[in-house]
Amino acid sequence: MRQAGRSLPEYRRIRAQHDLFSICRQPELCAEVTLQPVERHGVDAAVIYSDIMVPALGMGVDVELVEGVGPVVAAPIASRRDVEALIVADPEETVAYALEAIRLVRRDLASEHAVVGFAGGPLTVAGYLIEGRPSRTFTRLKRLMYGSPAVWHLLMERLAEAFSRYVAGQVRAGADVIQLFDSWAGTLSVTDYEEFVASYSRQILDSVDAPTIHFATGCTHLLSSLARAGGDVIGVDWRLPIDEAWTVVGLDRAVQGNLDPAVLLAGWDRIEGEARRILALAGGRPGHIFNLGHGVLPETDPAVLTRLVELVGDASGRDAPAARAAFEHT
Ligand code: CP3
Repeated sequence: MRQAGRSLPEYRRIRAQHDLFSICRQPELCAEVTLQPVERHGVDAAVIYSDIMVPALGMGVDVELVEGVGPVVAAPIASRRDVEALIVADPEETVAYALEAIRLVRRDLASEHAVVGFAGGPLTVAGYLIEGRPSRTFTRLKRLMYGSPAVWHLLMERLAEAFSRYVAGQVRAGADVIQLFDSWAGTLSVTDYEEFVASYSRQILDSVDAPTIHFATGCTHLLSSLARAGGDVIGVDWRLPIDEAWTVVGLDRAVQGNLDPAVLLAGWDRIEGEARRILALAGGRPGHIFNLGHGVLPETDPAVLTRLVELVGDASGRDAPAARAAFEHT
């Protein structure tokens, strides 16, 4: 999840001086920002500080992350020629800095903490590339998908090939897990997801020589399709109780989730109640990664996050302060 977000003062101090892509282009600084939430909260894993649009930069796309808006693309994709102009190359050539940050994080992080690398899902990244900015309805995307299916499939092939190389490069650089964030896949019906997206997600996930997490939000109707497309772990948002989601996904898979990030804006009693409810529904079954159902909201009090990590650690027999001490030791 977007865990660093804007909730940490130590992150905000750095962000006041540099924009997101310029942090990413400085591997030392990127590694520092990546480690901040682990250092502060004692979580089990570091999510590499990057964005799903970083590999698009490597594909030659002019994209900016506009504060309070999200990714904005200068020349949205509208034709076969636009798709053909996308560069598919090895990440060592196009976004070497992103791989170097992973090497530094893996070097500096205690071995019991996992490094989570990631890529955007093909539907979600195509959404930004075609719409040019965040969209609620994905009208342009659907117009291209239904109206020019050959162009759509060419775009998906290019993204799947570029992202497969990108995640393979991340694993070579030291990522222990790869998460595929197809955040907006839920905008499609089950049949359209199967026809237009699933095989490309499968291609990316299959190319990873490490455990994978497949995540989408607003996709209660798509859970079994997502699980069929791949992922050792299926990330679920907060809309379904986790035991029901797990039944749909299949008990042979692991699940990640599923506290609503907005609950963290409530009083502690509510937060504790919701966290304990999720843990009880997961029932101590192996293969539950406790997490939020989506990214940390910027207005979240970091002290609440630390307390939540402690609660989940205590409830599941893990010693969070000891994990933090192990981190500080390195
Ligand atoms: O801990 C982390 O921050 C992990 C790194 C991370 C970022 N983006 C950094 C980021 C990750 C995993 C992402 C993934 C990402 N980016 C997704 C998939 C996950 C999800 O949340 O659904 C998506 C859809 C994006 C696209 C994107 N980037 C959006 C919608 C925004 C928010 C725009 C805003 O200002 O509200 C971003 C910007 C962004 N990417 C931020 C961070 C920390 C926030 C602001 C900043 O510091 O500039």
